[in-house]
This record gives sequence, C-alpha cells and structure tokens, in this order.
Amino acid sequence: MTTAFAPNAASDTGHAHQAQSIEIRAFDAPVGAEVLGLDLGQPLNDDDFRRIHRAHLDHHVLVFRDQRITPDQQIAFSRRFGPLQIHVLHQFQLKGYPEVLIVSNILENGQPIGLGDAGHYWHSDLSYKEKPSLGSLLHAQELPSEGGDTLFANMHLAYDKLPAHLRAAVEGRSAEHTYLAKYAELQKRSPWRPNLSAEQIAQVKPVVHPIVRTHPETGRKALFVGEHFTTRVIGLPEDESKQLLDELFAHSVRPEHLYRHQWAEHDMVFWDNRSLMHLAAGTPDHLRRKLYRTTIEGDVPF
Ligand code: SIN
Repeated sequence: MTTAFAPNAASDTGHAHQAQSIEIRAFDAPVGAEVLGLDLGQPLNDDDFRRIHRAHLDHHVLVFRDQRITPDQQIAFSRRFGPLQIHVLHQFQLKGYPEVLIVSNILENGQPIGLGDAGHYWHSDLSYKEKPSLGSLLHAQELPSEGGDTLFANMHLAYDKLPAHLRAAVEGRSAEHTYLAKYAELQKRSPWRPNLSAEQIAQVKPVVHPIVRTHPETGRKALFVGEHFTTRVIGLPEDESKQLLDELFAHSVRPEHLYRHQWAEHDMVFWDNRSLMHLAAGTPDHLRRKLYRTTIEGDVPF
C-alpha cells in the first residue's frame, strides 16, 4: 500500500534545499535499515524527506550514523513527522527543551539526570495515551563500553505468525494500557524514580486500545500489547486475561521477530511505535549511558 500521508512534507523554511546522496541499506534482520550519506543537521528537501518517510514505513527502524547534531536539530527533524509529545516525567526533560527526554543512568550528586530505567520492559512508547506515539528518535550522547543495546520486536510479524488459537482469542478484542502499571515495581528497583504528583497522575489515565491495530499509513496489521503498560484484556476474567497477555508477550518477542541495536557513537535511531515494541537490554551500573529522546504523536489506534 502506498502512503497517502505526507506529514509536514514541506520543508521547514519553504526553500528548495539541495538533495543529499542518501543510501538505505536494509539489515539482515526482521526490521531495520541503515541510512548513509544523510546529515540530519541540514534541512531535508522534500524528495529526501519522502525517501526517509518511505524507508521508515518499509523498515520500521532507521539508523542514521554519526549525527553530530544539536537538540534543536533533533527537534526540527522529528517535527517533520508530526507534533512532539512531552513525557509526563518532566523531571527528566533536557533543560530548555521540554520535547527532549533524557534517557540516562547517570547520577550527578546522587540525583538522576535522566530516566535511567526507560525501556526496562517491552513496550511501545506512550501506548498509555489516547494517541500513542507514531515514532521515537533516540540520539546517542554518551555510550557505555559494554551493554546498553536496544532490542526491537516486529509486531507485524508477530501478528502474521500468531498461532491459530491466539488469533481467534484476540479477534475483535481490546486491552487496557496504564502508565502506572509497573510504576511501583520500578520504584522499588530504582528508588530515585520520583513520586508522581496528582497532576502527573491525571495526565496518564488508563486507556483502551484494540489488541490488533492497523497501521494508519501502510494498512498492515500489528499486535499492540506490551508487558510494560498493557494490564488486562477487556471482557475476560482476570485469570484468562493474564494467560492470554502472557502468551501474546512471549510470542511477540520470539528471537525471529527481533533486531538488536548495538549503539555506535552519535547514532540516531528512529523507530515506528505502531509497528514495533522495544526494550533497553540494560547497562552495567558502573558505566555511563546518555541519550536524548524525542517522541512524535500518532493517531488513535484502530
Ligand atoms: C526507551 O524505551 O525509549 C529507551 C530505550 C533505550 O534506552 O534503549
């Protein structure tokens, strides 16, 4: 299916910018491609933007190498795809840039500078919102000498390969997603996690989404449940709901659905939250890791 959607396709200044010589190389993996020859610090002309947009729909994870760009440039590129979402944990915004969430395990004077355990459980970003995220961009600032990988699961493939009994069980069903689902558990492992104010809690009321969603641009179906935020299947008794979700979670992350990203200095990784779930594989506590994340608003899932 070709896309009918051209988010912010016009370049930001309205001027014609020179084309960059882009090469897109698919990974030997169920998702992902590397984009070479593109400087995200330069405004993209409309043809280049369309190629990147198409590649994002085709490969679901794009890795842009060696991007020496500023937060302003990350924000400008992200905005070409839609409005940006502000994370509820405003404590971890980059100073002066509310659109940028710092993902980091670094403590300064005993205080976390970022969300150190972001991605500890499989999830699709902001699935707990009425309008979950279209995609996220993560830009490496400081990387550990070992560990710190990010895993991506192809949820189209997970849907296509669903065993018949699971396909029948999810047909027409919806599930609840809640930001608070694992918050207390995460606070136990990461005591630096702030208590949420009443205002923050009000921003993350539980929502219900279809278990199988249709990608709004490609028309492909994908499973849309993840162990971090999905709490129950609507209309099923608790034990049946738990069993079904456990089976879906286990099936989604079978090794044949996964791409493992090993970060290189200045990588920018842009993934599609409508097609994927992801997981931070973990960083040894004594090593420093810092990345900047922007998150683009998507549609109400259907
Ligand atoms: C995230 O879930 O956005 C963070 C992923 C990572 O740190 O690898």
